Amino acid sequence: MITLTVNGHQHAIDAEPDTPLLYVLRDELGLNGAKFGCGLGQCGACTVIVDGSAVFSCLTPIALLPGRPVTTIEGLGTAAAPGPVQRAFITEQAAQCGYCIAGMVMRAQALLARSPTPTEQEIRDGMNPNLCRCGTHMRILAAVRRAAGMAPVQKADAR
Ligand code: FES
Ligand code: FES
Repeated sequence: MITLTVNGHQHAIDAEPDTPLLYVLRDELGLNGAKFGCGLGQCGACTVIVDGSAVFSCLTPIALLPGRPVTTIEGLGTAAAPGPVQRAFITEQAAQCGYCIAGMVMRAQALLARSPTPTEQEIRDGMNPNLCRCGTHMRILAAVRRAAGMAPVQKADAR
């Protein structure tokens, strides 16, 4: 048994120590926000926060997690009461298919917790590990800027 703390709740998990956190979240705990994209640490669809840092849950074995709190998108808010970063993504209509968005929100959440007033370059570098196959990156960046309380970038500058 491995005890995980997810969104403030403790769970005793009966699984092999090398089981990826993503599988436990989705299959054991019913937390389906984090998505399986590549399973290889290349897309970020599975991003959650561990100990304050954004991690690829597809590559994170649960053996590494006792005593290290995990936060998933479900821990940030609900559909009825979304958290501030979630609200910014909704306002900027950052989702197209939506598959990448939970991971994007979690990476933005970790970035803004670490750096509440980021520069444009910090936002771009910070969000860089996560991919959006629909190509809504400009709206995603706008959402992160909004969540950080930054002025919107003018279209001519949004390259
Ligand atoms: S599913 Fe984890 S990085 Fe792609
Ligand atoms: S909105 Fe479809 S992959 Fe990002």
